[in-house]
Amino acid sequence: MNPHENTQPQSNLSQDVLNHTAELNQRITSLENSLSELSAYRLSTVNPSLPLAEPIGYPEGFSTSTPKHTHYCDFKEKPNYTNYAIQDKYPIPALEDREYYFPDQDYDYWISGLTDYLRIKERLEEEGFVYADDAVAFDFGCSSGRVLRHFASYNEKVRLIAADLNANHVNWVNRYLPQFITCFQCINLPALPLPDATFDLVYAFSVFTHIDELESAWLLELNRIMKPGAYAWLSIQSDDTWKQIGNEEHFMFQHLKYNEPHMQGVVISEDLFSRGMPQDRYIFRFNNGVVYNTCVFHKKEYIEKSWGKIFDVLDIITRGHDWQDVVLLRKRG
Ligand SMILES: C[S@@+](CC[C@H](N)C(=O)[O-])C[C@H]1O[C@@H](n2cnc3c(N)ncnc32)[C@H](O)[C@@H]1O
Repeated sequence: MNPHENTQPQSNLSQDVLNHTAELNQRITSLENSLSELSAYRLSTVNPSLPLAEPIGYPEGFSTSTPKHTHYCDFKEKPNYTNYAIQDKYPIPALEDREYYFPDQDYDYWISGLTDYLRIKERLEEEGFVYADDAVAFDFGCSSGRVLRHFASYNEKVRLIAADLNANHVNWVNRYLPQFITCFQCINLPALPLPDATFDLVYAFSVFTHIDELESAWLLELNRIMKPGAYAWLSIQSDDTWKQIGNEEHFMFQHLKYNEPHMQGVVISEDLFSRGMPQDRYIFRFNNGVVYNTCVFHKKEYIEKSWGKIFDVLDIITRGHDWQDVVLLRKRG
């Protein structure tokens, strides 16, 4: 039985967040007013709040079927999936509420979140980090909780705050994941309604792969909300990823090819990728008017130099998140 079951009262931290929200909303409004005059800032459209699809519940044989997803289970010990599955009591989001991750592969969707959760845990343990009783983690760009649900299911100590641009995702988390999670909708300007020096861990999967403008400002914002010595686990697409996706069979190649008509002057070809990244930070921009209108790649050398001005870059983990790499950062001080 999870001790945080829905009856748990709101924590002080949640109250702090609410108090902070009012003040920051004012700052955000004035920032938005001034930014709306600058055409250089292409504010992406947040999905209108659509009715949520019914969660699919648990697929039949959920805790016992064999995962099809095998390519990055490189743990020291293979996880006992059944043990984890029986502790996770939350429904699986329908495809449209989970960023279309893993069509027809609900168990693989679940395993992918567990894998990311366990990878963070294993690596932070190697760093000598143990969650303290008052530890707080932030899931930035949480979607419908692919990873968050695992923090909520097995790690009772960590208090969880999460945010996403997309109101539907926030609604999903608030409706179907436990109430001890504080989940709120943020905007795509780097001004989170969260107090300074709050978090022991910040993680973001496939979020910095979509942030084009204001990247450094977002890093500074995450740095601000982290405690000194806290860790950030941020996935990126690196120059290695660039090489890896350069064949027509790769789903990212196909994704970019599909969007080619919406890009100006870009031809997606195997040749493009075999030539290597043309810039330290390369952005595919799609003018298709949806939230997902960018796909960002970073050279690892660039990460070391540029992100290293803000954080200590402890590692860049090859394929730390599926086909993406993970940058492990630590706040100084
Ligand atoms: C590719 S999805 C990944 C979702 C989730 N992290 C996962 O791994 O399943 C990217 C998510 O980041 C959110 N997002 C993108 N830019 C964001 C921003 N600036 N602030 C908050 N969320 C953002 C999107 O709405 C979307 O839910």
